[in-house]
Amino acid sequence: MPATATDPRLIAQIRQDLLARTPAHRVPHVMGVEGMVVLLARQWGVDVGRCLLAGLLHDLGKPYAKSAQREKLDGCTAVPPTRDDFECAPVWHGLISAQEGRAVYGVEDREVLEAVAYHSTGAPNLGDVGLVLYVSDFAEPSRNWAGVEQIRAHLRSLTLKEAAAEVARLKQERLDKKGQPAHPRTHAMYEWLQSSLKKGG
Ligand SMILES: [Fe+2]
Ligand SMILES: [Fe+2]
Repeated sequence: MPATATDPRLIAQIRQDLLARTPAHRVPHVMGVEGMVVLLARQWGVDVGRCLLAGLLHDLGKPYAKSAQREKLDGCTAVPPTRDDFECAPVWHGLISAQEGRAVYGVEDREVLEAVAYHSTGAPNLGDVGLVLYVSDFAEPSRNWAGVEQIRAHLRSLTLKEAAAEVARLKQERLDKKGQPAHPRTHAMYEWLQSSLKKGG
């Protein structure tokens, strides 16, 4: 039977496995995301259990070495990688985490699996669980880049779609400054959100 987001034993098991494999320096981030998804889900009226599940799963694949991630990418069928994904190593762990969410923990909820797979790039038509995770991953409390506190407060003053669009804009701006292209899904999500916001969505 597929796991449900509200099963406390499932949540406890994933948290235990996540903490067992996450290096100490990354624990504040994964715990920060757990707290932030709950906070923002409540603020924006999104299902807290599904956001919590996505938050706990999202970086499950991050501790694998890049060579192991590349091997695992070939087996990702829960949310299959695109050609662009194969060229973009920083996004591999999200797809692998979604795969483990389905294969190891029995998560079949498409919105949760896509939230996990696309947590670093975003994606057009991403569901609300994915938008909450996208914003939380960017601005959780252990992030300490210059200006994060003001940005965090600003994001919380916006609607969910406005906040996700602002995160996509900031991520693209950051990559532009480094002379690196953003993933095509980030552009596509930004365009989708802008057009949806213009229509009042
Ligand atoms: Fe990540
Ligand atoms: Fe993360």
